[in-house]
Amino acid sequence: MKAWRWCLLVAAFAGAGPGLAQQKPEDAIRYRQSALFLLGQHFGPLAAMVQGKMPYDRDVATRNAALAETMSKLPWDRFGPGTDKGDTKAKPGIWTNQADFKAKADRMQAEVARLAQVSKTGDFDALRVQVGETGKACKACHDEYRNK
Ligand code: HEC
Repeated sequence: MKAWRWCLLVAAFAGAGPGLAQQKPEDAIRYRQSALFLLGQHFGPLAAMVQGKMPYDRDVATRNAALAETMSKLPWDRFGPGTDKGDTKAKPGIWTNQADFKAKADRMQAEVARLAQVSKTGDFDALRVQVGETGKACKACHDEYRNK
């Protein structure tokens, strides 16, 4: 292969995300599950607070929402070709309805970003509303694209 072709190839992989060039499908699956697991771990306390199952604390809410926002960005480039099989609950529709899956991922990221903003204000009612909106965005995708 000519050198310039290698350059294009390397650039294409570099653009796909850090560390993706050599990633095995099982590692991509584990990576996205880990990010989604942590997303759930940081969204959980916010849901518990607005449901009165955990005392409300603005700092705890802010910290968890900020971490959830970071996690919300990580899974999506790990749904590449070959990662539909294996130890995964991802449904095949992800790869046949990519635009819709991406739209649902984008919506959720927007809701979590808003959650991070709202959590800083200390406005509990606004937080409750935004936790609800975020939860709906999680469910919309899980109902369609995640196996039980
Ligand atoms: C655009 C689709 C989509 C959105 C939006 C989404 N998820 Fe998921 N989620 C998935 C898929 C697909 C899986 C299964 C991944 C796999 O097994 O490879 C998953 C798995 C999970 C898991 C299990 C991770 C594990 O331990 O394997 C948790 C927890 C989770 N999601 C939480 C959330 C939360 C919380 C939100 C909202 C803040 C959310 N998800 C939004 C698609 C989505």
